[in-house]
Amino acid sequence: MKCRVCREPAVIDLRRHNANFCAEHFLRHCCQQVERVIHDYKMFSPEDRLLVAVSGGKDSLAVWDILHELGYAVDGLYVGLGIERYSGESLSYVSDFVDRRGLNLTIVDLGDTYGFDVPGAAEATGRVPCSACGLSKRHVFDSAAVDGKYDAVVTGHNLDDEAAVLYGNVMRWQVDYLGRQRPLLEARDGFPRKAKPLVRLTERETAAYCVLRGIDYQVEECPMAIGNKHLGFKETLNLLEDRSPGSKAEFYFGYLKRAVDRFSDAEDRGRLGICSGCGAPTDAEVCAFCRLVSRSAGATQPVAFKARNEATVSKR
Ligand code: AMP
Ligand code: FES
Ligand code: ZN
Ligand code: ZN
Repeated sequence: MKCRVCREPAVIDLRRHNANFCAEHFLRHCCQQVERVIHDYKMFSPEDRLLVAVSGGKDSLAVWDILHELGYAVDGLYVGLGIERYSGESLSYVSDFVDRRGLNLTIVDLGDTYGFDVPGAAEATGRVPCSACGLSKRHVFDSAAVDGKYDAVVTGHNLDDEAAVLYGNVMRWQVDYLGRQRPLLEARDGFPRKAKPLVRLTERETAAYCVLRGIDYQVEECPMAIGNKHLGFKETLNLLEDRSPGSKAEFYFGYLKRAVDRFSDAEDRGRLGICSGCGAPTDAEVCAFCRLVSRSAGATQPVAFKARNEATVSKR
């Protein structure tokens, strides 16, 4: 097995590209894939200030590392979800990464700031943990980006994530979500610009990237997410990919090229108001996150407002 570029021994084979790479050319390939996405979707420019949401997993550490290597100004944001041992461990991987590179990290802990954690919220709402978790993360990402005047929020969603979400949305014909499933969402109605520069890389590739760059990351999956539907969709797509390499990319990029615009009309473009609790954009009197805070922390509504203004945010 030889590297496609230099003919030296290869360390990885990428069946969907019909190519093998040595370490140096694989790392270059990853950076090129990210640069291509940034260029194709006009995600951001070197003058922009970026905020990467970083979980301690391979994808978000890889995207931060790549953007940093490419010369972008990127700060990190970590959200403490209060999930047993898992959350503490994930923060230690992020801290280690930040310390080695001297980067800026903001930490928002749900418990310290809003008085609840993901397991508590799941119990209070009677819904799956991922639901409160996703809502909380989105809210914290959005408000941190707006408050910090960042030009975009970057997440580590990769090709496997995006193909699985697309598959789930198609399976259930969630047309309102389909119109928004793009690698770049422009800022609008008080929400920040959101970018996913890793959509041309798979999980296997981001894991290999981290190993070759010496980045330690949390390998363990979130214990609260085990068995959820999203992981089931990923497994199904992996079976297809195994039989015919390239299927995932064809499915996802084919959708972006030929279909996503057809669903844009399904997006709810009604004008948004401002949440009376936290000031975030919402179509209700009180936003879904403040309702979650009230329910989960057993608190009265002003806690959310207070929390936003006196957030327990530590900057490293
Ligand atoms: P997930 O929703 O767990 O698939 O994660 C998708 C992306 O959200 C990751 O690639 C990160 O960019 C971001 N993310 C997930 N968990 C956290 C967290 N605890 N703090 C900050 N960002 C996160
Ligand atoms: Fe969100 Fe596990 S990371 S429920
Ligand atoms: Zn090579
Ligand atoms: Zn609110």
